[in-house]
Order: sequence, then structure tokens, then C-alpha cells
Amino acid sequence: MEKFVVTGGKPLHGEVSISGAKNAAVAIIPAVILCDEPCQIENIPNISDVTLISKILQQIGANVRRINKSSLYIDPTHIKTYSATTDLVRGMRASYYLLGALLGKYGKAKVALPGGCNFGARPIDQHLKGFEAMGAATQLVDGAIIEAASQTPLQGTHIYLDVVSVGATINIMLAASKAEGLTIIENAAKEPHIVDLANFLNSMGADIRGAGTDVIKVRGVGYLHGVTYSIIPDQIEAGTYMCAAAATRGCITIKNITPKHLESISAKLREMGVKITEYDEAIKVDASCETLKRCNIKTMPHPGFPTDCQPQFAALLMSVPGTSIINENVWDNRYQYVSELIRMGAHISVEGRLAIIEGGTALTAAPVKATDLRAGAAMIIAALEINGTTEISSIQYIERGYEDVVEKFRALGSDIKKVYFTGDNEEELRA
Ligand code: EPU
Repeated sequence: MEKFVVTGGKPLHGEVSISGAKNAAVAIIPAVILCDEPCQIENIPNISDVTLISKILQQIGANVRRINKSSLYIDPTHIKTYSATTDLVRGMRASYYLLGALLGKYGKAKVALPGGCNFGARPIDQHLKGFEAMGAATQLVDGAIIEAASQTPLQGTHIYLDVVSVGATINIMLAASKAEGLTIIENAAKEPHIVDLANFLNSMGADIRGAGTDVIKVRGVGYLHGVTYSIIPDQIEAGTYMCAAAATRGCITIKNITPKHLESISAKLREMGVKITEYDEAIKVDASCETLKRCNIKTMPHPGFPTDCQPQFAALLMSVPGTSIINENVWDNRYQYVSELIRMGAHISVEGRLAIIEGGTALTAAPVKATDLRAGAAMIIAALEINGTTEISSIQYIERGYEDVVEKFRALGSDIKKVYFTGDNEEELRA
């Protein structure tokens, strides 16, 4: 069993470079299915979710080759099926983008229901509503596979999303890129990776306007040509290191980022008393001389505070004296990690969508587990706050979304290692 072993109590210092955005990569890689020529995608994070979606593309016949650590060559021209129903597909949430991409390209798609991080019900009714509005019939087969098929070419139409959904917005953009006529998505999500996907599709010859606003207009085109495209930096990875710097009262510079994507996180840290200095493609986070103040957080779709930084902020706030309240406004059940923080001495109570944190209590090392990807990041941050040695298990969740997490935290002065436990024996894994 692999674990992270973290001995905390030291402020972070130094520089860290942010990788390409996971949630952009897992949309853009399947989006290549729509292309009529090969593409090269750069600034791809080297994480297990990318490995998985690449393997899934290979399973359906695409030629996917890693050119170097952060670049993929993808040739979709030999894809031989519209069906993706293997266990790999079930293994990740973002495999639902295969629905929009295959439907957009071939007019039909058969995809296993996605897995991924478990924090309560994760419906895809808005995705299916979009496909149906464009003329596809959809059905759930054996409770495990979604089939979508259209007898005639998909038709552009007007779609109003009942909830702001990143996944539905992306899936509808994918299906609409080659549909006949104009698709208008209203109440669309505005996350940076939606803009990135639109930029990618447009660079291939698609006609998408308004990405980044709540009305996106997609005029279908017949042919998409191959491109070389570089993915945006990962907003949430950057936010995680920002939290870690504040939680350890450290001072770090985070490079290869877009400061605008981090505004909601920077604003909250500033409110707490952390000094934030923005540069063109970097940000300095300095909490070294400050007594931090408590704060409240409400997660919202972009440009609001991101739910994917909520657990990391909980870990930070448990180190800050006073009562902080988190209101999780996106997911129904994203507090499964709280019981792990409580094992470390945190005083947190959960009431529905609220988590009430009495910060500044004595914390002690304890064996904890990553209950999902961002929960795992929160465990690392909490462990870095504690004078003692914490073992974190279920780290496969963390490796789904954070490239070189051990190496990056080590470069910032942290004592963190990945070990392989076999009974009583412990063996450090070499990077
Ligand atoms: N929703 C519906 N119906 C739908 C789709 C969504 O009711 O058809 C609801 C969800 O239940 C949720 C809300 O709408 O309450 C927002 O869900 P959304 O569709 O935006 O989430 P997602 O596309 O499944 C992506 C990210 C998540 C991130 C959310 C919210 C990817 C692969 N995943 O999920 O990222 O939390 O948007 O920003 O892009 C993560 O990176 O750790 C992660 C979980």
C-alpha cells in the first residue's frame, strides 16, 4: 500500500511551477475525437487521470503517443467505434466527455457511466437534456451505459441549463461543434477550462463565441483541422499551494499561472491577512510575518470561490484562531474529509451545507486517508501544519490530479515522502 508520510511544522519557502490544468486536459483530450487530423497537445499534466483518458482513446482506436512529459500526439483519424464501455471508462468522471465528442463526430455514442471522486449524487441530466434538444435520443442501458444517437445530423438549438454545470456546458459545446446550425447555451458555466476548450476548438476551425460568459453560441462546422495547442495552467493546483503556504505561515512564489484565474482565492487570503503580490504569470504568497484572521467562504461557480479549493481552505482555517464558516454551495456532500481532519484534532462540525470551524486548536499527527482528490490535498496541508509525522493513505486519489506532488512540496522545503508499506516494512519510493 502506498502512502504519503509528512512531517510538518516548517513554513514553506521557495518557488513552485504549476502544471497544465487537469480539468482542461480531461476535456481537450477527448475533444480531439472531433478533429479530422492529428493534434499535438502541450502543457498536459502528468497525472493518472490523463493517463486514463489517453488509454481510453487508444482503446477506441486513436493513436496516442507521449512526445515528452507534458506533450501528447493524438491522431483520431483511425477511431473505429463509437462505443466506450470498458472498466477504464468507469474509472474516471470526465469520461462523460466521450459522449459529447463521439456524438458530435459520429451522431452516436455509447459510454459507460462515469466514476471518479465520490461526493454524493453526480447527475448528468443536463448533459442529456442538451443532447436531446439537438435531436439525439438517449437511454440508460442496464443501469450502467448511456447511449445517445441521432438518426439525422444533430441540429443547433437553444438550451437553457437548469443548473450551472461545467460538464454539461462542455459536453454540449462538443456535440454542437459539428452540428447543423447555431446552438445557444444559456446559463453556461464560465470556468477558465471552458474558455480553454473553446479556444482549442476554435483553433481547429470551430465557431464558438461567448465562452467565459453565461451565453455561449456554437455554430457547427463541417471540418476541424489539426493544431498544436497548449493547455492553461491549473488554477486549483495553484490554489492548493497558496493555501499550503498560508497554512504553514510560509512565503512562496508560484510560477506558470494566470493570476486572474486565482482572484477569488487571492481575495480570501488577503482578507485573512496574507500578502499576495501578482506578477504577469506568477504570484507571491507571503504569510510569514502575519497573524492570520478567520474568514467565511461560500463556494460558487466561477468566478465565485471554487468548490475544488474548499477542503484545502478548511485545512488552512483550522490553523487560524476564531470561528470560520464554509458554505458548500456546489456539491451536496463534499465534507467527507472532515472526519479525517477531526482525527488530527480539528474542531469542525458539519450542518448540511455548512462546516463550522473553530480554528487554532492543538493539532496532532494521526493516520488519515484521502477521501477524494481535493480532500487528499487538504490532508497534505493539514499534515504540513502539524509538528509530527502524519501518514496519508488512499493517495491514488491525490495522484489523479496533482503532478509531482511530492517533488514540488519537497522543493518548497517540506518533509514529505511516498512510501510503500508491506506489513511492518516501509520502503521509500524513489521519484
Ligand atoms: N449537476 C446537475 N445535473 C447535471 C450536471 C450537474 O444537477 O447534469 C449539478 C451537480 O450535481 C453539482 C452542480 O450541478 O451540484 C455542478 O456540477 P458540474 O456539472 O459543474 O460538475 P462536473 O462537471 O461534474 C467539474 C469538475 C469538478 C468540479 C465541478 C464544479 C471536471 C472533470 N470536474 O465537475 O472537479 O468540482 O466541475 O466546479 O471538470 C475536481 O477537480 O476535484 C473536481 C471534482
